[in-house]
Amino acid sequence: MVDLRVNIGSLALRNPVMPASGTFSEGLARVFSFDRLGALVTKTITAELRGGNPTPRVAEAGRGMLNSIGIPSKGIRHFIECLLPLYRAFSSPLVVSVSAPTSELFADAVRELSVPGIAAIEANISCPNLEEDGKAFAMRPKSTAAVVARLRRATPLPLWVKLTPNTGDVGSVARAAEDSGADALVVANTILAMSIDVETFKPTLGNIMGGYSGPAIKPIVVRMVYQCAKAARIPIVGCGGIATAEDAVEYMLAGATAGQGGTATFVNPNALVDVVRGLETFCERKSIAKVSDLVGGVRDRDMHVDQLEAVP
Ligand SMILES: Cc1cc2nc3c(=O)[nH]c(=O)nc-3n(C[C@H](O)[C@H](O)[C@H](O)COP(=O)(O)O)c2cc1C
Repeated sequence: MVDLRVNIGSLALRNPVMPASGTFSEGLARVFSFDRLGALVTKTITAELRGGNPTPRVAEAGRGMLNSIGIPSKGIRHFIECLLPLYRAFSSPLVVSVSAPTSELFADAVRELSVPGIAAIEANISCPNLEEDGKAFAMRPKSTAAVVARLRRATPLPLWVKLTPNTGDVGSVARAAEDSGADALVVANTILAMSIDVETFKPTLGNIMGGYSGPAIKPIVVRMVYQCAKAARIPIVGCGGIATAEDAVEYMLAGATAGQGGTATFVNPNALVDVVRGLETFCERKSIAKVSDLVGGVRDRDMHVDQLEAVP
């Protein structure tokens, strides 16, 4: 028997596998029991009612998927009154993803969502910050520190902070989030990307640009998890292209304590449960008694990460 339990700060999870925000909804409970997952993560909720972006909103591109869904939201009240009771039926802790265009509105939303039944807040700071020319909070250490400090004061719940892979300095952003009171980092959101239909000469997405996800982004995000694990001490949840147990293992070796899978669920609705089962099989094969022993287990070469950055 392999011990699959992990802890993200004070939150104990039965296993390290959970859905990525926006790729999972309560309807999936018809496919598998949510009690099989380490945690449940909602689509990002915003206070304002939002309709989402122009269509087409998704397109396949290489070994990944482009999306520009645009965070449609029915607001916080709707979530608390209509959806939270459905999630409460499951034993897996519920992590609520939240976002807002200014740090003040962000803190208000986090405060309103700090209610019984919610185990942790995932602050999606990869969204545009209207106080900084629309650049995502997580693009820079300074704007990350400012918003995370404010969110820290707004909630007693564990505060997970979801970073963007579009910054050039993810380690400094990770450290800023930790120093400002984050309990965990989720690394990362989608990568800004674009594709063009060469028959019509038109961008494939209605919004022209969108976020890239799926197997193609995994090596990029594994590198970022590795860098964040060097820069910060708080637990990391790896997210980007996890479709198999081996993908999750790779993230854990790079320094993640747990993993989120998103695009894989669109290909195989049972993907996350398959990852849980596969982790057990992997650990048995490798005679690893506790899955948490994998965390940070990558065997470093002699070079320090600072030197690695100088390698072309
Ligand atoms: C259709 C779609 C919707 C998404 N919506 C959100 C969202 O609401 N909030 C968020 O933080 N990330 C959102 N994401 C990003 C995912 O949570 C995840 O960070 C990203 O897809 C990388 O993981 P993956 O390669 O396993 O899909 C979305 C991704 C997709 C594909």
